[in-house]
Amino acid sequence: MQIAVIGAGYVGLVTGACFARLGHRVSCVDSNPGRVSVIRSGRAPFYEPGLDVIIRDGIESGALLATTETMQAVSESDITFIAVGTPSSGGACDLRQLGGAAEQVGAAVRGADRYHTVVVKSTVVPGTTDTLVRSILERTSAKSAGELGLCMNPEFLREGCAVRDFMHPDRIVIGQLDDGSGAALAQLYAAFDCPKLTTTLRSAELIKYASNAVLATLISFSNQIAEICEAVPGTDIDTVLRGVHLDRRWSCDGERQPEILSYLRAGCGFGGSCLPKDVQALRAFAREHGTIPELLEAVDSINCRRPARLVRLAEQALGPLAGRVITLLGLAFKPDSDDLRHSPALAIADLLLREAAVVRAYDPVVTTLDGNRGITTYDCAADALVGADAAIIVTAWPEFRELDWSSVSTSMRCPVIVDGRNLLSEASLPPQVRYYRIGRAYHERDSK
Ligand code: NAD
Ligand code: UGA
Repeated sequence: MQIAVIGAGYVGLVTGACFARLGHRVSCVDSNPGRVSVIRSGRAPFYEPGLDVIIRDGIESGALLATTETMQAVSESDITFIAVGTPSSGGACDLRQLGGAAEQVGAAVRGADRYHTVVVKSTVVPGTTDTLVRSILERTSAKSAGELGLCMNPEFLREGCAVRDFMHPDRIVIGQLDDGSGAALAQLYAAFDCPKLTTTLRSAELIKYASNAVLATLISFSNQIAEICEAVPGTDIDTVLRGVHLDRRWSCDGERQPEILSYLRAGCGFGGSCLPKDVQALRAFAREHGTIPELLEAVDSINCRRPARLVRLAEQALGPLAGRVITLLGLAFKPDSDDLRHSPALAIADLLLREAAVVRAYDPVVTTLDGNRGITTYDCAADALVGADAAIIVTAWPEFRELDWSSVSTSMRCPVIVDGRNLLSEASLPPQVRYYRIGRAYHERDSK
């Protein structure tokens, strides 16, 4: 099939490169010429394991094209995915990029005599596809929906394992305006061996929000229990949640733990480009529709409190933080990603800077920071820790577990580790280290 994808970000580029890998001809369109030229050179414009190689193969074989020309890409295609950003604006879902892309797609199919299917892949609040997108497409294409196929196909991939998630999805949701609309999409996904759910456009849109909201809820639930442990001496979050995980209703076959349990863990909060904005957008949408989203509000506020917990632990270990040198281990919102959007690391850094601490950071893939954030970045963890008063582990990169803590801790001014992911809770640390982890109560100058 000939496919156009509008927006070559995480979702659009992974979608395009994977469909090209599966034998389709794909044009990835992005309005950012810099991004397009990186893709044309056979590389991904962001860090995503496994993506470079399928882009390079696609570009070399000619199955994958990158362009800024929407008109040509869409008019030569049978199906167009819209995968532009839907960021948060004042807590609501900002649909301006989507509206702009729909205008261009409609104009490109105007006058075309073959049936074309437009698929919204961006995360959008329920009703967006069958009102905003539909009306823009009908106006700009001079065709009625029906003459033009219209679908909503939410994407569930995770950054860091996006290619695997796309190629081996757990489910495919096809929201369709009518059967004709869904047919091309069903054909495109025919080779994927997973449950497929065909539904209305609005249910497909809400499935996406509900899916992200339940993940965020599990994380905030775990962090709420961690807060209780932090207030009650003699309790420990890791043990408490291990006890919860052992309920056989959380397990698939008794041997392998289901992946969902990785969200039933305490930490320094969820971040990234989607969970925070999608919870907020769903809250705003629920209110607009006269419902009271108190659970989502709690999920959000528990999450916003987590960075402060780590700063309090550093204070507990060191006293006032003014002038103290604190090294953040990890900047990305999660391992295997270089995405800093809503990363808890940045919130922690801001709180530390407000206390007049000196903030350093090391991340295996985020090596520089745009703008003057007041954070000095380093190329290796050991260098970032020389002379530091404390290390705060923010991102659960496995290399922090492998660090030679015996040698590193002797180079620190104070060998204090504050572990925001409880990454080292099972590690044997040298005796001089004062180790503070989340989800347990500490008295003054008390550590592991
Ligand atoms: P992104 O910001 O990384 O990429 C969006 C791209 O669209 C940008 O490169 C931008 O230049 C381009 N763009 C905007 N308007 C355009 C236009 N008119 N024509 C051509 N290009 C245009 O966004 P993303 O992270 O890929 O997310 C896209 C959508 O998918 C969002 O709705 C997001 O919520 C959803 N989503 C994201 C993820 C994820 O892991 N990032 C996962 C599932 C769903
Ligand atoms: C998430 C969803 O998992 C995807 O299904 C969805 O497609 C995507 O959002 C999206 O809509 O963009 P992603 O943000 O890439 O994917 O990453 P996750 O692995 O889900 O992690 C999200 C955040 O939760 C990270 O900040 C992570 O550190 C945090 N997290 C995760 C915790 O704090 N605790 C956990 O136990 C698990």
